[in-house]
Amino acid sequence: MNFFEVYARYEVEPVYGKGAYVFDKNGTPYLDFYGGHAVISIGHGHPHYIQRIQDQLHQLPFYSNAVPNRLQDELAEKLGSVSGLESYQLFLCNSGAEANENALKLASFQTGKKKVIAFEKAFHGRTSAAVNVTDNAKIQAPINQTFEVEFHAWGALDALEVSLSKGDVCAVIIEGIQGIGGVHIPVPDFLRKLAALCKQYEVLLILDEIQSGYGRSGHFFAFQQTEIQPDLVTVAKGMGNGFPIGGVLVHSDIQPVPSMLGSTFGGSHLACSAGLAVLEVIKEENLLHNAQVQGAKLVDALQQLEGVKEVRAMGLMIGLEMAYNTANLRKHLLYEQQVFTGSASCPNTLRLLPPLTITDEETNLFIEKIKLAIPKLEVV
Ligand SMILES: Cc1ncc(COP(=O)(O)O)c(C=O)c1O
Repeated sequence: MNFFEVYARYEVEPVYGKGAYVFDKNGTPYLDFYGGHAVISIGHGHPHYIQRIQDQLHQLPFYSNAVPNRLQDELAEKLGSVSGLESYQLFLCNSGAEANENALKLASFQTGKKKVIAFEKAFHGRTSAAVNVTDNAKIQAPINQTFEVEFHAWGALDALEVSLSKGDVCAVIIEGIQGIGGVHIPVPDFLRKLAALCKQYEVLLILDEIQSGYGRSGHFFAFQQTEIQPDLVTVAKGMGNGFPIGGVLVHSDIQPVPSMLGSTFGGSHLACSAGLAVLEVIKEENLLHNAQVQGAKLVDALQQLEGVKEVRAMGLMIGLEMAYNTANLRKHLLYEQQVFTGSASCPNTLRLLPPLTITDEETNLFIEKIKLAIPKLEVV
């Protein structure tokens, strides 16, 4: 059997990871400023993470959600205390798309309505409802287009209010920081007004923090640059540092109804151990602060580079927009300088999503490497 190949892949195969580096089979180190697509929050091979998962693997990796699982309660409690959202409730699933799928379902259950408002360039995942609120018709199959979605311009509220006032909308979904769209950060006033409009028209506000959450922005959640309290917050990626886990944080105003949501694997013992280890390391190593400090250093240095049009950043979620298509820059960084970086849907933007554990040394090394890469671009 062949693999059903749907991915455009690079020619480097990492076989081992440690801290901010991955290594190929020859032992060549690659500086990981992509983080396996914003997944590696606490660094590769963190000893506490390995130990906790290993202990749980020996004890009980999985049992069904038909029995109590104290690790789920521990995870909910720790997530509440580390994020500051103590009063929320936690539903656990296995991926980002699944988290958004469940959040959209909850909003529809809660309001009895089914129209959704999303934003231009949004990416919310590839399952049926999640892909329908993703602004990319190419990845939507006809079967996904089962409810009405309106895409509004980022930051524009007048047209959005007209839509909300019609009374048929169940949810507005927005990324804490638009990731794949090219690192677009909502200004606080936009978020505040959006939250107020949702409240006024009794529409649920879903904050997709799948990429921007878990400390990446220097806040635990990017929306915490304001004091808003979304109805639903979705998480995945950095939550498990590579172990598949996702979740929906549900406001205390929303009551659970037995069987309304469910998952065979969601919240397994092993997944909860991974999730707990990540939160413990984030707290113990003060990684939100590190994301702010290293993010600020990177932004300062990146702004000096030749050919830079704009640097959009919050913490360690950084969009570097150049005056040209960055495909060659990414290739050069990877193959000549041994640095992984991420792309964005706008070809001129490079996305930097390193582990939140990066040190001064790794930040400086990245800057050195990109300075070496830029002048050589024409010969790639
Ligand atoms: C903002 C956002 N939402 C949802 C998803 C989907 O997550 P997953 O690939 O785990 O389904 C992604 C993935 O890149 C994302 O960036």
